[in-house]
Parts: sequence; C-alpha cells; structure tokens
Amino acid sequence: MKDIITLGIESSCDETSVAVVKNGREVLSNVINTQIAIHTQFGGVVPEIASRKHIENISDVTEAALKQAGITFDNVDVIACTYGPGLVGALLVGVSYAKALSYAIDRPLVGTNHIEGHIAANYITNTKLEPPFLCLVISGGHTHLVHIKDYKNYEVLGKTRDDAIGEAFDKVARVIGLGYPGGPKVDSLAKEGVPNIQLPKTRFENLDFSFSGIKTAVINLHHKTPDINKADLCASFEKTITEELLENTLEASKKIGVKKIALAGGVSANSYIRSSFENLKTKGFEIYYPELKLCTDNAAMIASAGYYNFINGNISDLTLNAVPNLKLG
Ligand SMILES: Nc1ncnc2c1ncn2[C@@H]1O[C@H](COP(=O)(O)OP(=O)(O)OP(=O)(O)O)[C@@H](O)[C@H]1O
Ligand SMILES: [Mg+2]
Repeated sequence: MKDIITLGIESSCDETSVAVVKNGREVLSNVINTQIAIHTQFGGVVPEIASRKHIENISDVTEAALKQAGITFDNVDVIACTYGPGLVGALLVGVSYAKALSYAIDRPLVGTNHIEGHIAANYITNTKLEPPFLCLVISGGHTHLVHIKDYKNYEVLGKTRDDAIGEAFDKVARVIGLGYPGGPKVDSLAKEGVPNIQLPKTRFENLDFSFSGIKTAVINLHHKTPDINKADLCASFEKTITEELLENTLEASKKIGVKKIALAGGVSANSYIRSSFENLKTKGFEIYYPELKLCTDNAAMIASAGYYNFINGNISDLTLNAVPNLKLG
C-alpha cells in the first residue's frame, strides 16, 4: 500500500505547530512554536495575542516542518487541522490556512478534533497500540474518561462537572506563587514534599469528576495558613487528585471490561500520575501514555488523528469552520 503523508496543523491555543507524519504513526517532523513566554507576563493565555502570533508564525512553521521532513508540498497527501475545541480566533488561523492550502495544492482536508489528537498521540509513541482501550484525557481544558471502541467510535463515560484538571493545577500554582504554566511547577515541587495534608475528594455515583472543591480547599488553606509547606501542599494535591483519577478509571475499566488504559493530554506528563498508573501493571493492566513532548499541544498528534479520519472517510470540505466548543464522540 502507498504511504500516506499527512501534514498536521495545530493552533487551538498558544502553540503554533505543524507536523509531517507518515501513515499516522511515524513522525517525520513536528515543529512547535510556543507562545508561553509571551503569555507568562499576563499569567495566562490572552486570546487576541495568541491569534495574532499564530498569523505571524504559521507560514514559517509550515516551511520548517516540510524542510525538517525533507519533503515539499508535492509529497503531502492529506492536510489535517484542528477545528475545535479551543479559542475561536486561534482555531480560525489554522483552519483558514489549511483550507487555503487544501485548495492551492489540491489535497483533501480533514478537520480534526483536538481531543482526538491528544488521544492519537498514544498511537505515535506506542506503535502497537490499537483500539479498543480506555483513555483518560487529562488536559488544560478537559478531563474525560473515554472508551475508544475503534478509530472512529468513541464513548465518553465520564467527564468533569466543573474545572478541568489542568485548570486546577494551573490555579493552585498561581495562588501559591509558582507561576504559569503551573502543572510542571507543581509536579517538581511536589517531589520535595510529603502528602500529609488532608484534602477533599469528590466522588459521584457515575464516572464524572470534580476538581473545584480541592482547588478551593488548597487556595483557602494557603490563605489561612500562609506559612504552610508548599511542597507538602503540592504533594497532597497531586495524591488526592490522582486517587480520584484512579478510582474512576478502575471503575470504568471494570464496567466495560477493558484492561488496556491510555493517558492523554498535558497533565499526563505529570510524573506522580504516570507512576501511579504505572503501578497498575502489576495488577494485569496495560498502561500507555505519550512521550512527554507529545502530551502537550503539537501537530503530530493532529496529523495522526487526521490520518485515521481520512482512511475512515471522514473528509471535510472548504466550508469547514472553527467550532470552539466541539464535543468528543
Ligand atoms: N508535569 C505536569 N504536571 C501537571 N500538569 C501539567 C504538566 N505538564 C503540563 N501540565 C498541564 O497541562 C496543561 C496543558 O495541556 P494541554 O496542552 O493538553 O492543554 P490545552 O491544550 O490548554 O487544553 P485542551 O487540550 O483541553 O484544549 C496545562 O494545564 C499544564 O499546566
Ligand atoms: Mg491541548
């Protein structure tokens, strides 16, 4: 069978990224231009600045991705772009660029769900991984437990009722003065602490999550006890939140009878969460997660998800538009 080369384009938040991926799994290039340094001074992503930077960067990032892969537009078979969920102005840059490119080089366009992309990052790192499996998507904007039945058939089994887990990490980090983006900072400080602080855990009758309670508890504790040990606080926060993730994931696994579990999204870079899930291997579970670079936003994961959409006939036309609140499944 002829190789299929997918050009992936990602611009849903503050990373402009373009990648070239062969047959959905082999990354030939994955160029990521991050705006973190610009947004850090504002303590979070400023949507208008993000859109403007995407416009400034997208052509150069595309050229760099083609060059690193050693190809030209002639070699591209499919163009995949994120069309949601994300910031509307940011998404529109990638979608408009992809549409124009699809028209100019006469190649099919595949609008791709950003969360499907996070899940597909697993296919790149774990080349033998095939559905069905259970995926815990833990990112900056989402917390979903998803049954991946096959490459195009997803069922969301549980999701957060309030904050996404990444938001909770970022908020906790900001309040205790660690800065933005908070997840990696909480991760490293937690390693110096012990989880000796009791924090509230939320459980529902179904497989939903909630992180607003623990986030507020950490903030209140910090305000009421300014000299509290921040490392212990981070370690306790991570431990409690991970217990919630593990309990729901194990219940979902039992419910659907699937012992293959993948983590996805930026928070799956967290070392405590990874090692806690890794421990499940001794109980007969298969555990997968993307390599660190592929956990946070990048276009290789979009190219991979786009490839599977393409071979399953999910092709878009030039009416494709950004959908900021696009749902999964
Ligand atoms: N080591 C880590 N530990 C905990 N959280 C982390 C770590 N590394 C990154 N994060 C968190 O991951 C999030 C960014 O991940 P991601 O790029 O998947 O989110 P997003 O693209 O903003 O949101 P979404 O994908 O839901 O639209 C941030 O909240 C960041 O703090
Ligand atoms: Mg993301």
